Amino acid sequence: MRVAVVGATGAVGREMTSCIFELGLAVDELVLLSSQRSAGTTVSTPKGDVVVELAEPKRLTGMDVVFMSAGGDVSRELAPEAVARGAVVIDNSSAFRMDPNVPLVIPEINLDTVKPGPGIIANPNCSTIIALMPVAPIHRRWGVKRMIVSTYQAASGAGFTGIQALTDETRAVLDGREFTPTVMPYKSAAVHHQIAFNVIPHVDVFMPDGYTREEHKMTNESRKILGDPDLQVTTTTVRVPVYRSHSEAINLQTRQHADIDEVRQLLTDTPGVVVMDDPANFSYPMPVHVAGSDDVFVGRLREDTTAPDSLWLWAVGDQLRKGAASNAVQIAVALFN
Ligand SMILES: NC(=O)c1ccc[n+]([C@@H]2O[C@H](COP(=O)([O-])OP(=O)(O)OC[C@H]3O[C@@H](n4cnc5c(N)ncnc54)[C@H](OP(=O)(O)O)[C@@H]3O)[C@@H](O)[C@H]2O)c1
Repeated sequence: MRVAVVGATGAVGREMTSCIFELGLAVDELVLLSSQRSAGTTVSTPKGDVVVELAEPKRLTGMDVVFMSAGGDVSRELAPEAVARGAVVIDNSSAFRMDPNVPLVIPEINLDTVKPGPGIIANPNCSTIIALMPVAPIHRRWGVKRMIVSTYQAASGAGFTGIQALTDETRAVLDGREFTPTVMPYKSAAVHHQIAFNVIPHVDVFMPDGYTREEHKMTNESRKILGDPDLQVTTTTVRVPVYRSHSEAINLQTRQHADIDEVRQLLTDTPGVVVMDDPANFSYPMPVHVAGSDDVFVGRLREDTTAPDSLWLWAVGDQLRKGAASNAVQIAVALFN
């Protein structure tokens, strides 16, 4: 089994290498690839140090699985090259997610959409994965008609630049130093704000209808994964000064009435979801609990008493793990182990 990670030096790519070993993907040879900038550096793995190489088509020859996590442009260039050389590509960018011929997969929900053989499998957007882990079982049982989501997305969602921006800006603010806010990726070049001690209602670029592309992704990807083109999804995506793990306040209106105790029981029984919901004892999920976990944690479950057949839940997931790396590796483990 020969496995390559493209973007291996990035925030997600490093987690992918960890997940490959932690989740037990049977690997005989691991190839780590990056841009020219990091080529020649080393990454330590349980099988020893691996020298990072330049990502180019010829290096993908002979690979069984290629994990891609270097942005959409690199995926558009290298994913077809890897498939032509016989690989299964599990792509973490948004490049192929809405392609009708490419399955968009959360393994607990729709692994059955994957066909055998070489091809591209898309990993969904991180906020979409974290939302759908608890929403999919509710949808399956009672039918979800409408979903209203507000996200609280960690700085590492913008990669290493986001992590560095939060650290540098926090130090500068505490030291009373003047600084220029960092331009984080996935924002339009004209809009860049301080992330330290701030909340930014803007993730990815704005679209003509006033939503951001991140918000469009959540709507379109949720419909595709749940196989429900009529699902109403409306979202406000927000960047917050948290290092790691996205939180989401989710309001659901169901087609049939869902008893809140039955919802709690269903989510308690759902693999990959952990119910943490004891407000009397100050117990509810928070990013600091969840960082490093492959589960999505759910709390603050309650009926929405202002609307028929409606409920609230609060979901928190590590977007570098289940929102990206571990979801991708779980797909490979399910297909190849
Ligand atoms: N961060 C998240 O929470 C998250 C969640 C879900 C999906 N994603 C997606 O995952 C992808 C990577 O995100 P990230 O957050 O890990 O970003 P990142 O920390 O900025 O890392 C980017 C990686 O891509 C590599 N790269 C850049 N240009 C390249 C090129 N031309 N050829 C080959 N490799 C290249 C970089 O290599 P160098 O070290 O050489 O620069 C680095 O390894 C993006 O598509 C993003 O949308 C991110």
